[in-house]
Amino acid sequence: MKDSNCRLDLPYPEASASKENSELASRLSALYAGRYSELSALAGYTYQHLVLKDKYSYIADTLECLSITEMKHFELLGKLIVSLGGDPLIGETDRRRLYYWNGSYAESASRLDRVIADDIRNERRAVADYSAFLNYSEDPGVNAVIERIIKDEEHHIEILSDIYDEIKGKTR
Ligand SMILES: [Fe+2]
Repeated sequence: MKDSNCRLDLPYPEASASKENSELASRLSALYAGRYSELSALAGYTYQHLVLKDKYSYIADTLECLSITEMKHFELLGKLIVSLGGDPLIGETDRRRLYYWNGSYAESASRLDRVIADDIRNERRAVADYSAFLNYSEDPGVNAVIERIIKDEEHHIEILSDIYDEIKGKTR
């Protein structure tokens, strides 16, 4: 699958906050590199792509394509954190562990249908987390980027749901 098929054909707004805000930067840090974050998503999809490549080549290609879009989101969030006056660190960097990340956060792969079901659940969670962020944030520059990212995650739910239906159709 081409990279362009995992992101909507819409430009990304410039990743620039309207003004500095350290509280907003901390909240974004959790979405950037926390337990459920763009970093977890891109690492998880990359891992799944690698281990499923031989057996399920087409699905593995799609997972790689998804990981590349999550990398783009990861970079956008990092840019927003910088423009908010924060530090886009990855790892245990503050007492509240808002952006503590480790490799176990990346989903592993066992049964294919469970892998895809977990991926769908994580994408739904991402949409919910971003929506909660939008309820809190009043920065129009930041919110425009988050709204654009949500559109990609909703697209990912559709792509993964199609794969899930296909797998279930085959095993029925
Ligand atoms: Fe994402």
